[in-house]
Amino acid sequence: APASMAALRERRDGLRDRIVAGRPDGVARQHALGKLTARERIDALLDEDSFIELDMYRRHQAHGLRIEENRPHTDGVVTGSGTIHGRRVFVYAQDFTVFGGSLGAAHAAKIHKVMDLAISTGAPLIGLLDSGGARIQEGVVALSGYGGIFQRSVQASGVIPQISVVLGPCAGGAAYTVALADFAFMVRDIAQMYLTGPDVVAAVSGQRVSHAELGGADVHGGRSGLATFVYDDERSCLAEVRYLVSLLPANNMEFPPAEPPRDATADVRPRLAGIVPVEPNKPYDMRLVMAEILDDGDFMEVHQDWAQNVVCALGRLDGEVVGVVGNQPMVLAGVLDVTASQKAARFVRFCDAFNIPLVTLIDVPGFLPGVDQEHAGIIRHGAKLLYAYCEATVPRVHVIVRKAYGGAYIVMDSRTIGTDLSLAWPTNEIAVMGAEGAVNVIFRKELAASMDPARLRAELVAEYTEQLMHPHYAAERGLVDDVIDPVQTRAAVARGLAMLRNKRRPAPQRKHGNVPL
Ligand code: COA
Repeated sequence: APASMAALRERRDGLRDRIVAGRPDGVARQHALGKLTARERIDALLDEDSFIELDMYRRHQAHGLRIEENRPHTDGVVTGSGTIHGRRVFVYAQDFTVFGGSLGAAHAAKIHKVMDLAISTGAPLIGLLDSGGARIQEGVVALSGYGGIFQRSVQASGVIPQISVVLGPCAGGAAYTVALADFAFMVRDIAQMYLTGPDVVAAVSGQRVSHAELGGADVHGGRSGLATFVYDDERSCLAEVRYLVSLLPANNMEFPPAEPPRDATADVRPRLAGIVPVEPNKPYDMRLVMAEILDDGDFMEVHQDWAQNVVCALGRLDGEVVGVVGNQPMVLAGVLDVTASQKAARFVRFCDAFNIPLVTLIDVPGFLPGVDQEHAGIIRHGAKLLYAYCEATVPRVHVIVRKAYGGAYIVMDSRTIGTDLSLAWPTNEIAVMGAEGAVNVIFRKELAASMDPARLRAELVAEYTEQLMHPHYAAERGLVDDVIDPVQTRAAVARGLAMLRNKRRPAPQRKHGNVPL
């Protein structure tokens, strides 16, 4: 009868309203901690009114330790799908007000469900993490819930973009949800990530550290390299997640979303003539070069505070999304070291997996010399970057802005490891090593025997520079395709990428390569 139908609807709506509102004391505590609730976060992340919630009524079926007496709806995670700038994404947001956001069987099953939908529909997955970890009362069943997340995350790797946003505690095994994602966002003061907390660290090692010192946003943004992006507050963080998503394809079968072209192919940039000093040892900020080449001078830099001797960023050129890798002469003279190799390698592999063309801006004096670096495995880590470039099948253009020496020249997307278009500024110095070093090696005996070694050295340096380091040496040998006027760089790179748009390079048949991890 109509009356009972109305009554049912009223009961259902009442329940729904109560679930959406959350427990008032829990919400108040979350706010008192300076944190948004799971639903406020989803609202800030997604387009208005686009959220479709799944599994709102789900509750745990666990027994023991009195957990059966408390069965809140949602089981501590809000899951579903919505849009960002009109494009579909799947989301889950852990709700710290319910069991501390801890992960039990039902909570895990809800996350597994949205992950499966994201994979089967080919849409990005975004996890908003705020959790006390495995739900203690549910024991090994809770732990196995993480296994199901990790297994899906690895299957989805390179198929859909995966983003983890840490907005609270994320301890123990849960941290691998972040390590396996393509991008990790953290917010200062509220986010902490570690495998074993300060108490365990103190018990095992006697070392006393705070939560933030052990695993705060700045630790992971600047030291461990786990956080790709770090922000001061949740709202700016979630706004930047939206920006990142606007630069990514929905999945590996699509191209990133293009904007209308900007006549970049005819764009002359006079400022490019003045940024790079001719003197080989003078520093400058490679990001200024990037800003001149990319549309609106705008780009999203990954790992801004980690391995700053290499800059990796996503941006647009003539409306198309590109990934830019640039040596940074301002930090450690732009050398490659262990962390810079890791940072750039992972970025190159991400771009390659998701059809994002690569633009490499080269000004590299070599690998960082030193016992520390050698013993830390610079050969092994440098090999990651080498491997990443060698296997990349997306369009690849590089610009040799100034120095390109030795092994670092080869690793930085050189001709024979597969770049498609090599452009060089007239200032380029491609060589096995700098002139002084080269002369000291090949003319060691002559210099030792000379009556006037300083004069001889100067002569030999001039000779070496003239014969081997002039801009056209590499171009005459086909290792550089064109020597360009710096002011033409934006135009030349845009033309090159247009030329390469339909590039196809089939990968060899194999289970997978053995990237030196
Ligand atoms: N399992 C079950 N419940 C959990 C939990 C977990 N892993 N983590 C937190 N909770 C519950 C708490 O019991 C508390 O419940 P209550 O509101 O009914 O009292 C609620 O979540 C909030 O936790 P609380 O400890 O009061 O929050 P806090 O902000 O002071 O501390 C943590 C947050 C994460 C540091 C703390 O909860 C903690 O250490 N949790 C355990 C972490 C852990 O070892 N997890 C297993 C590792 S995989």
